[in-house]
Amino acid sequence: MKKKVLALSLAAAMAFSLAACGGGGEGGSDTVANKDKPVVWYNRQPSNSTTGELNTEALNFNEDTYYVGFDANQGAELQGQMILDYIKANIADIDKNNDGVIGYVLAIGDVGHNDSIARTRGVRSALGTAVTKEDGTIDSEAVGTNTDGSSTHVQDGKLEIDGKTYTVRELASQEMKNTAGATWDAGTAGNAITTWASSFGDQIDVIASNNDGMGMSMFTAWSNENDVPTFGYDANSDAVKAIADGYGGTISQHADVQAYLTLRVIRNALDNVDMDTGIGTADAAGNVLSEDVYKYDEATRSYYALNVAVTGDNYKDFLDSTVTWAPVSNQVDKETSPEKSVWLNTYNSTDNFLSSTYKPLLQKYDDLLNLKVEYVDGDGQSESSVINKLGNPSSYDAFAINMIKTDNAISYTNLLQ
Ligand code: BGC
Repeated sequence: MKKKVLALSLAAAMAFSLAACGGGGEGGSDTVANKDKPVVWYNRQPSNSTTGELNTEALNFNEDTYYVGFDANQGAELQGQMILDYIKANIADIDKNNDGVIGYVLAIGDVGHNDSIARTRGVRSALGTAVTKEDGTIDSEAVGTNTDGSSTHVQDGKLEIDGKTYTVRELASQEMKNTAGATWDAGTAGNAITTWASSFGDQIDVIASNNDGMGMSMFTAWSNENDVPTFGYDANSDAVKAIADGYGGTISQHADVQAYLTLRVIRNALDNVDMDTGIGTADAAGNVLSEDVYKYDEATRSYYALNVAVTGDNYKDFLDSTVTWAPVSNQVDKETSPEKSVWLNTYNSTDNFLSSTYKPLLQKYDDLLNLKVEYVDGDGQSESSVINKLGNPSSYDAFAINMIKTDNAISYTNLLQ
């Protein structure tokens, strides 16, 4: 008798879950074709790594395809402004060798990554060192070494502070790529600052970095000891903590909002509810995002989190980068949003931002959203290190993809065709 009741209720539960979700259940679905399953590109937007042009085909792979990232231009502008404000406020101590030249060095993450390019441009624009190319865009090439100011990729800027005119010079910049090909490489940045400092250390007044991973490596290798402020991006916990010790500042790209959105759009697509649920419109559990933390661009099917500067004034509010964003931290109901299985990769297991900030956040949100996520890491160099781990797409309900190279979306969509 007992057995029968159980069998009946199982059948009822299965029927319910099929009806509620349009097919699919735990551990993947055999009724939904892979090509129709939700796909979220995140952190690396499908785009041409040479021209930056967005890959609209990949962004429109199916009706449940989205991109989740952050507003690169708004963040880049903030980073440049933060550095400029710091220089102005601390001018008495900045120009260490008193030569009237404020020299900075710049660590570039990946010359083919739109976010990295935006940050290089943001710093150069704010400091007056930007050069506009014939096509109207700001040159984002690395200069190598430019201690004599002769590079054509940048120019010397001028800053008037307290009645005195200073020259601002990008003394050196380099893409931090290791010999195996991994970009945003912290170790390479640590070596670069050591090399630069040994030949023109007394001229370096400021260090700018496209991210905190490289920034912290330079801070530890040289700038901390030499009282030179380093500015990064990401607001990883270790970098925020270092502000107390002289790290200049960083930018929060609201990873707490991005990680939520990455899984939330999947949740909504699988539940077959309005895409704005739990985003601009509160869900039944009360999760909702306000307009000051994200925006949605319909044309590119992209959600962009907004950035916030983290400096000596406010860093204490950002000490733990793995805390979920309170307005979207409510458990969703298992009845209406039953467990689903998601395949999600990070492009590089050693990427500082993804491993120390983004992934811990995803791991918290997956519970809140009833998603069983299989986390897979790439080696940061060859796309196959990721693709080979997606052997059986049929066993998942949805996919969240962080490409190694932004040109390679097709390698993934081919697998799902
Ligand atoms: C982060 C970098 C990270 C990169 C990986 C960027 O948004 O700021 O720290 O290395 O994403 O794609």
